[in-house]
Amino acid sequence: MKRRLSILGVTGSVGRSTMAVIEELRAQGGDISVEAITAGGNIAALAAAARTLQPAFVAVADPNLLDAARAALPGIAVGAGESALAEAAARPADWVMSAIVGAAGLKPTLAAVRRGAAVALANKECLVCAGPLLRAEADRAGAVLLPVDSEHNAVFQVLTHPEAVERITLTASGGPFRTWTSEAMEAATPDQACAHPNWAMGAKISVDSATLMNKGLELIEAHYLFGLPPAQIAVLVHPQSVIHSLVHYADGSVLAQLGAPDMRIPISYTLAWPKRMKTSAARLDLAELGRLTFEPPDEGRFPALGYARAAAEAGPRATAALNAANEVAVGEFLAGRLGFSHIAPLAGEILDGLESSELRHFQKTPSSFDEVEAIDQTARAVARRVAVAHINA
Ligand SMILES: NC(=O)c1ccc[n+]([C@@H]2O[C@H](COP(=O)([O-])OP(=O)(O)OC[C@H]3O[C@@H](n4cnc5c(N)ncnc54)[C@H](OP(=O)(O)O)[C@@H]3O)[C@@H](O)[C@H]2O)c1
Repeated sequence: MKRRLSILGVTGSVGRSTMAVIEELRAQGGDISVEAITAGGNIAALAAAARTLQPAFVAVADPNLLDAARAALPGIAVGAGESALAEAAARPADWVMSAIVGAAGLKPTLAAVRRGAAVALANKECLVCAGPLLRAEADRAGAVLLPVDSEHNAVFQVLTHPEAVERITLTASGGPFRTWTSEAMEAATPDQACAHPNWAMGAKISVDSATLMNKGLELIEAHYLFGLPPAQIAVLVHPQSVIHSLVHYADGSVLAQLGAPDMRIPISYTLAWPKRMKTSAARLDLAELGRLTFEPPDEGRFPALGYARAAAEAGPRATAALNAANEVAVGEFLAGRLGFSHIAPLAGEILDGLESSELRHFQKTPSSFDEVEAIDQTARAVARRVAVAHINA
């Protein structure tokens, strides 16, 4: 296999798993070269990745770190700031891993989509913010969106007859607080929220998993990615994270993808697509596992799921606003200022206030990426105000 690729967010959890898959592919004789890599501000980890991957170009998001990045990366072209991230994505790689966290990933991902690359999409927030526009852009440019999120990757793998799909079921581990009472969750700390039972992930997605907002964002992601109405997307708690999602067909058949909870599997699927490659991920031994369990999500203790479903029903302005509010709330929680139990209600308040806040001035379905950015910025401003009220309450 011959591939030239770029990794946006190389220093993160998905970025590191991507490097591990590349190493395996090289060990199998794959001819992999690297065009560009990016990070937010972790120069030491970025330099270490650059030594391994030998990219032609490196970008760091923080513009104040240009000199530090240059000093750490002698002999490599380096850029800093938003435009450098977009340049990294726009450079000629035939496969781009989109693994920046949050809405910050939208512009670089768009740059890769616009030149018709195969885009491995880990960053769900860019679809949540701008799903219909991004899909249209991909169609126009001939770009392929390959879902990396294990649930969407599972659906993608078993989507044999899209015209005959009745519904899909996204599975959810339930997160670290699956069995906690609402009272106990009120005192939950960032360390407890980030201690996911099955997956080792970045802080933001870990907190999203703890509130179940991650599953809500995934419901919106699936809605935009697979073109299914929200009512045809169910969520099922499956604590073992072995069945990664299911597709229910009109003839009564249900197809699922199973595997160990290891991101190298979905990442490898997108890298080798349309073929498959060998990975050293743990093999599934169902006899050893003995049993798999399932339960409905408790939307009373985890209201985020309901807010996300309501946003998906309301349209792209609502999903972009929900995402922005959630990013603000999670940031405040991780900084130790906002209680865990306030995260989802804060996002819900922004959604409830769509027609009474500054957000009412925007179209329900934004027609440009500039409009999406304006919705994102406005929703953040409103959410910061609401966060202050929650913190002082
Ligand atoms: N982790 C998983 O298993 C998993 C599974 C499915 C989907 N995802 C999705 O994949 C994305 C990444 O998740 P993750 O767990 O890998 O996150 P992570 O470990 O926090 O890594 C985030 C990456 O984004 C970079 N970054 C942070 N802020 C940035 C900014 N403002 N501009 C540009 N780059 C920035 C980080 O750089 P620094 O290191 O320099 O800060 C890092 O490279 C998320 O959208 C998540 O929902 C993750």
